[in-house]
Amino acid sequence: MKKILITGGAGFIGSHVVRLFVTKYPNYHIVNLDKLTYAGNLANLKDIQDKPNYTFVKGDIVDADFVNELFTLHKLDGVIHLAAESHVDRSISNPLEFVMTNVIGTVNLLNAAKNQWKENFSAHRFYHVSTDEVYGSLGETGMFTETTAYDPHSPYSASKASSDHFVRAYHDTYGIDAVISNCSNNYGSHHFPEKLIPLSIHNIKNNKSIPIYGTGENIRDWLWVEDHARAIDVIYHQAKTGTTYNIGGHNEWTNIDLIHLLCKIMDKKLNRAEGESAKLITYVKDRAGHDHRYAIDSSKLQKELGWVPSLQFEEGLTKTVDWYLNNEAWLSNVTSGDYKKYYETQYVKR
Ligand code: NAD
Ligand code: DAU
Repeated sequence: MKKILITGGAGFIGSHVVRLFVTKYPNYHIVNLDKLTYAGNLANLKDIQDKPNYTFVKGDIVDADFVNELFTLHKLDGVIHLAAESHVDRSISNPLEFVMTNVIGTVNLLNAAKNQWKENFSAHRFYHVSTDEVYGSLGETGMFTETTAYDPHSPYSASKASSDHFVRAYHDTYGIDAVISNCSNNYGSHHFPEKLIPLSIHNIKNNKSIPIYGTGENIRDWLWVEDHARAIDVIYHQAKTGTTYNIGGHNEWTNIDLIHLLCKIMDKKLNRAEGESAKLITYVKDRAGHDHRYAIDSSKLQKELGWVPSLQFEEGLTKTVDWYLNNEAWLSNVTSGDYKKYYETQYVKR
């Protein structure tokens, strides 16, 4: 039985990756390592928590001794590393936390892998899950490819860029079998409501204003989270060592157009008159260093490994709205307590 460590498995994307691997590969044992920060939530994995091929470990990747002990104890075959501080706005108010988890935490995992696997690197794989934000911001045309130069602008993207460089350095210097993917914006169920789509769903439902940064003309390229999880599965199993793949859905939207579509879907779901939810749109102060446009060219992944996105955006967004409306307890649990303090600091006291 193969043993794979998935870090950050209690978060948004991580929980979808854990679910896919635990259910699709009964002959793998999946160890989910997560610190359970505000973004980590074991309720995301309720449906698979009792499976015999699944173990949860609470721990911090910044703690090098703990990470080394975990690698010694579990004799891992591979790692899929998603644990990170992931929200750009939080990185602007607290950059050091992003350096600790995203950079130091990644290097701790690489060191443990180097020490444990040095006799046979080719039998073990280190898969680092990264973001398209490392490439910076695009103008009106062009797309990010795997060879686009790194040009991060936020503390979050700078920390992810740094972690990518360390992963490549450990491959080139020590021979670790490492692969990296850089994905565009994900959406779907279990997304923490600090990010644009779940925050807007939550606010529309509660008749609260929808905060749009700047002019709303910034562009993001949205991908259904389960399509990202499927891409990770394909890349983990089929990519050649040392390679990088971009993942994205060819699905660019300005923030304001996306929010209008979301309002339209929610008007129907909530039996509101058409145009009612859009009245909640409120333009607020722009994000500092706000990247204008992201767009991913994922043709390398499509051609070489045969991955294709499965869902059209409107269908995926409707499914996402349904999930949030049917999971009120999940939403009210994560928006109580600290969330309220975060929200006030981010949006009210500007
Ligand atoms: P998330 O914030 O929802 O989840 C992150 C998880 O990591 C949480 O469960 C959290 O508890 C855990 N974690 C944080 N610090 C930790 C630490 N020190 N030790 C152990 N666990 C810790 O993030 P997400 O949106 O699911 O993103 C997952 C990964 O995918 C990140 O590496 C992110 O950079 C990358 N990514 C995200 C997106 C996106 O659109 N969300 C797109 C591309 C890439
Ligand atoms: O591109 C991949 C990245 O996508 C991931 O690496 C990050 O982890 C993930 O958080 C996401 O980053 P973004 O900054 O693009 O996502 P966010 O949902 O925070 O914002 C999406 C867009 O919406 C962005 O242009 C900022 C804008 N926005 C966001 C919030 C939270 C608003 O206008 N208002 C808001 O309240």
